[in-house]
Parts: sequence; C-alpha cells; structure tokens
Amino acid sequence: MDSYLTVSAADVIACCEMTGRPGETAQSVIQLGQSPCLLLFLGVGDASAGALRRAGAALARRLPAGRTALTTAVLAEPDEAVHAFVEGLLLGSYQFTMKSAGPAPPEPGEVRLLLAGTAGHEGVVEGAATTASGVVERAATIAGAVALARDLTNTPPMIKSPAWLADEAVRVAAEHGLSSRVWTEAELTTGGFGGLLGVGSGSARPPRLIELSYQPAQASKHVVLIGKGITFDSGGLSLKPNEGMKLMKTDMAGGAAVIAAMSALARLGVRARVTGLVAAAENMPSGTALRVGDVIRHYGGRTVEVLNTDAEGRLVLADAIAYADAVLDPDLVVDLATLTGAVRMALGSVMGALYATDDTLATALLDSGMSSGERLWRMPLAEDYRDALDSPVAELANVARSGTRAGSIDAALFLREFTGGRPWAHLDIAGAARATSDDGENTKGATGFGTRLLLNWLAASYPA
Ligand code: BES
Ligand code: MN
Ligand code: ZN
Repeated sequence: MDSYLTVSAADVIACCEMTGRPGETAQSVIQLGQSPCLLLFLGVGDASAGALRRAGAALARRLPAGRTALTTAVLAEPDEAVHAFVEGLLLGSYQFTMKSAGPAPPEPGEVRLLLAGTAGHEGVVEGAATTASGVVERAATIAGAVALARDLTNTPPMIKSPAWLADEAVRVAAEHGLSSRVWTEAELTTGGFGGLLGVGSGSARPPRLIELSYQPAQASKHVVLIGKGITFDSGGLSLKPNEGMKLMKTDMAGGAAVIAAMSALARLGVRARVTGLVAAAENMPSGTALRVGDVIRHYGGRTVEVLNTDAEGRLVLADAIAYADAVLDPDLVVDLATLTGAVRMALGSVMGALYATDDTLATALLDSGMSSGERLWRMPLAEDYRDALDSPVAELANVARSGTRAGSIDAALFLREFTGGRPWAHLDIAGAARATSDDGENTKGATGFGTRLLLNWLAASYPA
C-alpha cells in the first residue's frame, strides 16, 4: 500500500485525523501506472457486522458515479463479514426519486471485493470465492427485498391505493413462485371483515385483504406474517393535523415488509410454510367514513366500539389476525405495524418495539434483530392496562377509555384479543420504518424495517 503513496498510509490517516470509526472516509490521490487514481480510506470500526454494514453504505455513498472501486476485506469471520459489507453497500446505494427534470440519475458505481486468502495474501482464493459468491448472493437477495419494501413505502399515496398495493403484491408473488389471493370489497363484505370495511369506508378507493402463500416441500411448521397496510392515514374523521399527515404514506410499511420478506423465502430456501397477510385500506374522512361511536363487527364476530378513527391500524389488523387464527391454523403469528406515535416517544427511530405471548418466539426475534441490524426492544403486555379497553356497548373499545398513557401497550393488548391464544408477536415499527436522513445502511425515507429481521429469523429457524 505505502509503495503507491508519496507519504505513508499512517501519515494520511494521521493527517486526516481518521479515528477508524465505521463509515469514516479519507482520500488521497495516487499514481497508478500512467493515471492518477483515488485511494479511499474506509473506517470499519471493530469490524462487527453492524460496523461493516455502515462501512459498506459509506463506500456506496462515497463512490463516484460510474466508477469502479476495488476493496480488500481481511476479516475474521469471512461469511458474516462479507454478508454485512455487501448488504451495507447495496442498502446504502438505494435511491427513490420521481423527479422528471434535471440530470439523469448517475450510472451506478461498481465495487469489486477482493477476498483475502487463507494464506493471508490478497487475491481471490478458489475456496473462498465459492462460498463468497453464495454469501454475496444471499446478501443481494435480502437487500433486494429491502429495496422492494422501501419502494412500496416511498410511493406516493395518490398512486398506492389498496388495489394498487394488491396488484404489486400479486406481481411480486408471480415473480417469486408464491400463490396469491386478493379479497375485493364485495368478498370482504361476504366474509365479514368489518374492520377493513369500516376503516376503508371513508375512501373512494376500497380496501383489500392480500394473502400470499409460500409452501415448500417438507415444511412442518406454518408461520403467518401480518402487515398493516394503511396506504394513507389521514386519521379519518379524527383528522390528523397537517404536520402529522406528512409521513402517513408510510403507514403500510409493515405490509411492505411482509410482501418483501415473502419475495425472498424461496431464494433463501426457508423450510416452513409461510403465509403473508396484508390488511390494506385508506383511512379518509368523508360522508361515508367511520364515525366516532360506531360499533364494527370484526372477522369472527367480535364487536369493537370505535372511539377514535385514527386508531385504525388495530382495526384492520384485528380482522387479519382473527382470520389467521380461525382459518390458517398457524403455529406462529407475527404482525408488523406502524401502529402508534407513542412507540416513537419510547424508542425513537433506531429500534422497533416487540410484544410477544411466547418467550421462545420473542428470543428468536430479538436475536434476529441483533444480527440483522434491525434491533427490537421487548415491551410488556401489561395486564394492568387491559381493563381500559373495555367498552359498555361492545367487546372492546379501540382506544383506552381512561388515559393509560401507554399507547403502544394499549394497541398491543387490543391485538392480543384476536390471536386465539396462539404464539404471537407484534412489532410496533412506527419509529423505525422511516429515516429522517441518510444514516448507515438507511437512506432518507422508508427503511424497509422488519424485512431483514424476518428473513434472518425464518432462514435461521427453518434452514434449507
Ligand atoms: N399510523 C399512526 C401511527 C404513527 C404515528 C405512525 C406517527 C408513524 C408516525 C396510527 O394509525 C395512529 O394514528 N395512532 C394513534 C393512535 C391513537 C389515536 C390512540 C397515535 O399513535 O396517535
Ligand atoms: Mn391513525
Ligand atoms: Zn395508522
């Protein structure tokens, strides 16, 4: 390395005051043959998966358009390290734009990874290259799924009606060998999905229930994934202020993560039956909208008094959870939802809240959150607050009657009522679903949160 430089690498590092923190970069121009060449120094911190993801993303952002970077990775745990670095590179280079004017988007750069051989010398070593290509492929599969979740979530609400989301899901299913079924409004009516119908009733664009099925040979367990698919949450008649509506095109991020995870199951060789349900509706105020004080009848017959039409996510999810319990006979149910503003107060945007009625499931999800870089924090299903959801006229009220001040817990307790006692986990991802700026592997806007942790969990629990 030093032979290419006019000063030593150590001097460059000292001069640029590099500390080696993950994602930190410094550069120097060197002469390579006849041509000047940019040498980039990239901090990788402690070379943990999280640090390498961050470093990969930083390289992606720093790489001049259309240029090629060669990078060497000398790493202790090669598979995990290569996976994390490649995932970071791909996730960090994600872009979403609908700009019609200005310069065309730049040609993407290219990164070539040179793996250190067992002998400690640079260059691609036969054995290492074979396993590495599998690792790179897996990382690319997962990053591709995350990009899909981000695309769906970043799409403006004018485009993404419930029917549009269903069409996208059906297209994705066809591409990845999944079977699919979409309930139209008429079919939801016949089926008795009062939550979806109620929430969707204010919109000119009717609700949908989307079901995607993955059924590999030799699957002994059945996992049902459920996503909140509110394509726009105005609050309904309990209207949000404008400021609170700005983010509400992302209120289907849980559904997007479910569709995205489903798309990658076959490629990752997950050996469990997995069904993905997305409860899709647009929450709008109008003359036909759900009123405050209305009582709706959920799938399976339970009634709910709607005291706030802005607590709509739990209403559409209740239908999907009850349907899963009654019809799909799942071993495990996991739902993902941008459910409450309260969880953002509690946990901010770097992690999601986990609620679970099963400790084994909780531990598996927490572990997958750690290794995938999508962290979860377990929250209590505190029985003390359950009574606050009682209603004098229905089985339940959709918000706590007397202020528990525990909005995310209330919502989780509400959902639990529909699980039929099956092992269930709920992820409140209202904070983590969106990033306010480019940060590590996340790009400003939708993060696709949940996709990586679901895939990590399913691939680890049901290996090929
Ligand atoms: N989609 C929102 C939750 C949300 C808020 C997500 C902010 C992302 C950012 C949800 O439907 C909602 O409006 N929840 C209400 C519930 C309340 C009325 C009990 C909330 O959290 O304020
Ligand atoms: Mn709402
Ligand atoms: Zn919502």
